[in-house]
Amino acid sequence: MTAELTVRDATALDAGGCAAIYAHYVEHTTATFEEVAPDAVEMASRIAAAQDRHAWLVAEQDGALLGYAYGGPFKARAAYRYSCEVSVYLDVTARGAGLGRTLYAALLARMESLGMRMACGGVTLPNEASEALHLALGFEPVGTYRRIGWKHAQWRDVAWFQKPLGGDGPPPSG
Ligand SMILES: CC(C)(COP(=O)(O)OP(=O)(O)OC[C@H]1O[C@@H](n2cnc3c(N)ncnc32)[C@H](O)[C@@H]1OP(=O)(O)O)[C@@H](O)C(=O)NCCC(=O)NCCS
Repeated sequence: MTAELTVRDATALDAGGCAAIYAHYVEHTTATFEEVAPDAVEMASRIAAAQDRHAWLVAEQDGALLGYAYGGPFKARAAYRYSCEVSVYLDVTARGAGLGRTLYAALLARMESLGMRMACGGVTLPNEASEALHLALGFEPVGTYRRIGWKHAQWRDVAWFQKPLGGDGPPPSG
């Protein structure tokens, strides 16, 4: 019998598992522009930073960490404070089975409940799964930064997606 999937807030104890998932993408893909994989200590500090005003969720099944999704500020300047940047990474073995949708949807609901009014995601091209995920969850493609990164000896383009959260009116506290 397959154990139930749990999506929950991360704790510092998840830092090692998140670091292990992320290391693959740092080292072997352009999904992230980092070039040196952060260790568990650094990951714990990123989890705490995200949870200060946003969130870091993990998906777990049968005691195994299968993926994580987190939100953070889109930009630091004050007027951006209702906009967040969101990201999601799954263990390579857990891709293509609906978990990305489950985790990202949970994260977006959390961002909305925290008062965020716009979610933004950047996708280094090509990344069919991530583009499809954003479109499937109602993100609008808003443009592509060309040759904005240099990784694995090539210039990389990044497509941006955004999705409104909550209504069109003013934000919760002006
Ligand atoms: C991107 C990622 C989070 C997507 O999660 P996933 O569990 O693989 O995707 P899902 O199974 O939830 O699929 C979401 C949607 O995308 C589609 N999709 C998934 N993989 C696809 C692929 N390789 N090609 C085309 N479409 C794909 C699915 O059909 C689904 O659409 P639907 O719900 O309308 O049927 C996951 O593949 C991943 O971790 N990739 C590596 C890290 C990464 O690129 N993160 C994003 C950084 S921007």
